[in-house]
Amino acid sequence: MNEEFWLKKWHQNEIGFHSPHPHNGLVQYFSAFGPPKGSRIFVPLCGKTLDIHWFIKNGYTVVGVELSRMAVEHLFVELGIQPDVLALSAEVTVFRGRNIEIFVANIFALTASMLGPVDMIYDRAALVALPDDIRICYARHIVEITRCANQFLICVEYDQVRLSGPPFAIMAQDIERYYAQFYTITSIEQQPVPRGIKGKEPGYEHIWLLQALHAERSA
Ligand SMILES: C[S@@+](CC[C@H](N)C(=O)[O-])C[C@H]1O[C@@H](n2cnc3c(N)ncnc32)[C@H](O)[C@@H]1O
Repeated sequence: MNEEFWLKKWHQNEIGFHSPHPHNGLVQYFSAFGPPKGSRIFVPLCGKTLDIHWFIKNGYTVVGVELSRMAVEHLFVELGIQPDVLALSAEVTVFRGRNIEIFVANIFALTASMLGPVDMIYDRAALVALPDDIRICYARHIVEITRCANQFLICVEYDQVRLSGPPFAIMAQDIERYYAQFYTITSIEQQPVPRGIKGKEPGYEHIWLLQALHAERSA
């Protein structure tokens, strides 16, 4: 799953992962488990998700990162926001509007100083988009650039032997492996995926709350 893989998906409009409505778990649980309105939510690997519309409508500020410039252009058109666009380097361009800042970049090119303060990470279909070896680097990187912000994390669980990702299956023990050294990990909800993973394989969607172990955040 290199950059070309995802850019091609966007160019060919093969975006089955893009949902026509905000995620049910977000709508149902975020106010209870997330930070107060006005907080700055980081949406890694954001695509043009309608979850961003939900955050803005509900009084949050959003910062995101996405490889595909096309996806980010569509996101702003669909939000009805005319962005200011600024190239920060050869690898990173930022689209800015009121209450929203989206970086067009590979997440690994994003630094803590570019990203700015983050009150919570909202990961829907980011960790599950990455193969295991990259996921380990991603988990460390995201902890570093957000100074270990708490996470609202949505993963899928299924038998990886029977189907290849993405989305990749991320089981409880995988989450422990990536994040237990940084966070306490709490299950919020686990629900069967109505028509199965990719419409084929029975599976579950599991929502997790990750709360930072150390108080180093405020430093
Ligand atoms: C499975 S999609 C999920 C998009 C969005 N979170 C959603 O729920 O609709 C994964 C997205 O991550 C982007 N992506 C993949 N690897 C990336 C990387 N290393 N840095 C930034 N974006 C990446 C892809 O272009 C794609 O839009």
